[in-house]
Amino acid sequence: MSLVTMKSLLAEADQCKCAVGAFSVGNMEMVMGAVKAAEEMNTPIILQIAEKRLLNSPLELMAPMMVSAARNSKVAIAVHLDHGLTFDCVQRALEYGFTSVMLDASLYPYDENIAMTKQVVTVASRFNATVEAELGVVGGNEGDTEEHVITCTDPSVAADFCEQTGVDALAVAIGNAHGNYPVLPSLRFDILEQIHSAVDVPLVLHGGTGITDDMFRRAISLGIRKINIATASFDNLALFAQKCCAASDSVDYFKLSDQMVQGVYENVKRHIRVFNGE
Ligand code: 13P
Repeated sequence: MSLVTMKSLLAEADQCKCAVGAFSVGNMEMVMGAVKAAEEMNTPIILQIAEKRLLNSPLELMAPMMVSAARNSKVAIAVHLDHGLTFDCVQRALEYGFTSVMLDASLYPYDENIAMTKQVVTVASRFNATVEAELGVVGGNEGDTEEHVITCTDPSVAADFCEQTGVDALAVAIGNAHGNYPVLPSLRFDILEQIHSAVDVPLVLHGGTGITDDMFRRAISLGIRKINIATASFDNLALFAQKCCAASDSVDYFKLSDQMVQGVYENVKRHIRVFNGE
């Protein structure tokens, strides 16, 4: 199929009342595992990487690989910059051919979040790229030592935010957090429902690792059209690698690489099933 805009995938997901999985990647095996699962399920996905992760996985290496994987895939794939922190990184991602970007200005005051997001919308439009923004604060951290305290999105300003910025997708904070949850989260579906009835844009759920299938289904029924999964893929890759190394005294790199692909593939496939409503 092809490299597509995230906007087009979210519109299709809205038609069939399902969600598109946005799977974070950090190396070639993760890209291969995610694409393999998507092709087998004949389902579009989003491949994404967060700016903080570029310390381990440089953009100049990851971006051509992600874009090429999308172009050569049998299914439609959007390539997205997750949690951009700088305008420079957003610009570079767009120049490499990412079809979607997020500048995370959620920790800034409301007006600054709007002003920064508007700038990204202007730049992204030159590349025909999609823009995601976050309103409220998702908990945990994305490759950071600092834990963010959850601030739920205020539904009464969601429509104003979307109108003023012109974003294509809105990430909500409803009790969700990045990383492994210490206890099962209790998501504020009442808040999600209010946001969903206030805005027209597709909604995004961050912090997908550890959310139960029933919660995913409920979130999808309330307008969530993109679901981010990172930690579960990194953890499953590490687990499969660990088992491979423990299985014999000497480690065959090629077997190890296969197992890393397999670990990500199994996690991605499991999530695609739920997001497709199976
Ligand atoms: P998890 O690491 O909890 O899956 O969160 C992923 C995410 O939201 C990336 O932005």
